[in-house]
Amino acid sequence: MVKTLSDSLTYGKKILKPFFVLCVLLALSGIKTEVFAEKKGPEPDIKVGERLFFGLIPSGEGSASCVSCHAVHSGDSINWNPSAVEMAKVAAEMDLATFKEHLLTPTGAMREKVHVKYQLDDEQLFHLQGYLVQLSENGVEDAPISINKLLIFLLLGGLMTFALVDLIFTKKIPYKAIHVLIIVFGLSFQLKLVAHETIDLGRSQDYMPDQPIKFSHKVHAGDNKIDCLYCHSNADEGKSSGIPSAGLCMNCHQVVRNGTNSGQFEIAKVVDAYENNKDIEWVRIHNLPDHVFFSHAQHVNVGKRECQECHGDVENMHILKQEHDLSMGWCLDCHKATNVNFKDNDYYKTFEALHKDLDEGVRDSIKAADIGANDCMKCHH
Ligand code: HEC
Ligand code: HEC
Ligand code: HEC
Ligand code: HEC
Ligand code: HEC
Ligand code: HEC
Repeated sequence: MVKTLSDSLTYGKKILKPFFVLCVLLALSGIKTEVFAEKKGPEPDIKVGERLFFGLIPSGEGSASCVSCHAVHSGDSINWNPSAVEMAKVAAEMDLATFKEHLLTPTGAMREKVHVKYQLDDEQLFHLQGYLVQLSENGVEDAPISINKLLIFLLLGGLMTFALVDLIFTKKIPYKAIHVLIIVFGLSFQLKLVAHETIDLGRSQDYMPDQPIKFSHKVHAGDNKIDCLYCHSNADEGKSSGIPSAGLCMNCHQVVRNGTNSGQFEIAKVVDAYENNKDIEWVRIHNLPDHVFFSHAQHVNVGKRECQECHGDVENMHILKQEHDLSMGWCLDCHKATNVNFKDNDYYKTFEALHKDLDEGVRDSIKAADIGANDCMKCHH
């Protein structure tokens, strides 16, 4: 019971003591988190960084948003600028001072041209780099289109089932034309969806995947007139043409370090692969099934065919794409239509009867098919 002043004081002390201890503890832990936070440093605001990247927060008058060059998705035509994720991987490794320098006071012919007019303070640069670190780790999230497509697919399925059930059993809708319409439209939409999804799968005509380095046949075989066989020397004597190694690239890129279109970024990858003995993981474009035998030497060396007859205008392609479908019909048609240089090539000496026909004027030309190129066993061992 509280009766006197001193009583109430001791009572107060009783309450105050634990309260005081609690305060000290809290203060200590506060200091502790402060110290801890000091060690870890402030966290970047990823959202602000993302807005800066996409140009939703102005980054200087007349400056372009990062995403306008460092694209998030790849398109049909070549984009020489580093993709967003590739750029982010490089940016994530930089300290803030280097990152700042690359954007605000860039050196190097290409960077001086593209990174201009940025007015970003240290805090904004910090947030921007924070976003890029995240981007380099997580990549770009795919738009949820495929989920929508799946939903449409299932909905159509449900609608068609309903129409079918009603047509046969429940018979609620009086006109049969309505059932038929629903089923026909539903099916054709579903087929269209399926076709769209599968076209992207596997090997096909016009196939042109993203490559690890933006290697352009137009720049090399076209503008700089480098012979196809300089890089694909195996085509002349071997079954396959082969893709050159980084070592061969370095014959020139030991010296050439700046590309007119891509700056230093792409060529730096070649140098990195060479110096660190890494394979460049080119994505293979042409691919016959295993049960088909095809030899380049047979066509290039013996048959004297030009690369372009089968691969198209390669010297004008920035991104190489498959020109023909590589179907059996494509092979057979050319064998039926193409003359072989019969007279001057020792390779055909053994075809005595054909030589006689040619000499006596019974035939005026010998096609590849005439010398057995269309026998099943020639292509299917
Ligand atoms: C006009 C196009 C363009 C814009 C806009 C642009 N960049 Fe770049 N960026 C490039 C090109 C091209 C390169 C390759 C330069 C080189 O390697 O010579 C590059 C390289 C980079 C690199 C790799 C390091 C380096 O300098 O080689 C980083 C990091 C980078 N950009 C960040 C950014 C950020 C962040 C923004 C937005 C604030 C941005 N870029 C805006 C074109 C652009
Ligand atoms: C400087 C070296 C170089 C030269 C010259 C060159 N190529 Fe290539 N070629 C490559 C590299 C590297 C690849 C792999 C990257 C790609 O597919 O673009 C390749 C890929 C190809 C492919 C696709 C291979 C696949 O994956 O199916 C074909 C076809 C091809 N080259 C044909 C040609 C023809 C035809 C020429 C001449 C007009 C030529 N190349 C000149 C380096 C070269
Ligand atoms: C015979 C010399 C030679 C060889 C071999 C060669 N290159 Fe090049 N490369 C060049 C020249 C020349 C350029 C153009 C430089 C310029 O734009 O001024 C170039 C440009 C490039 C560019 C930048 C294109 C641009 O316009 O920005 C890349 C990337 C490249 N080469 C990759 C490769 C790869 C990968 C290989 C090996 C498969 C290779 N090069 C082999 C001579 C060569
Ligand atoms: C008669 C048609 C034909 C001609 C001519 C031809 N190719 Fe091919 N090429 C093909 C076919 C078919 C493939 C796919 C082979 C496979 O998958 O086994 C191919 C594949 C390739 C590849 C992929 C990699 C490899 O090793 O097979 C390259 C590179 C290539 N060709 C380059 C060339 C070059 C360079 C020339 C000219 C010197 C040339 N081709 C001439 C039909 C041809
Ligand atoms: C651009 C025309 C052309 C195309 C396309 C073509 N070939 Fe040929 N092929 C020839 C010619 C010409 C010869 C005759 C050269 C020779 O004597 O071997 C030949 C010969 C052959 C032979 C050798 C026959 C023998 O006498 O030993 C085989 C095997 C062959 N081709 C397979 C294929 C396959 C597989 C394809 C399709 C993937 C194909 N060719 C596509 C033109 C073509
Ligand atoms: C000039 C080369 C060539 C000759 C000759 C040839 N084929 Fe083919 N064949 C091919 C190619 C290339 C493919 C692969 C087609 C594809 O993947 O679309 C193929 C595929 C096939 C297939 C598999 C079909 C499929 O859809 O994959 C069969 C079966 C076949 N050939 C049978 C034959 C028979 C039987 C003969 C003889 C009458 C014959 N081939 C002669 C090149 C040839």
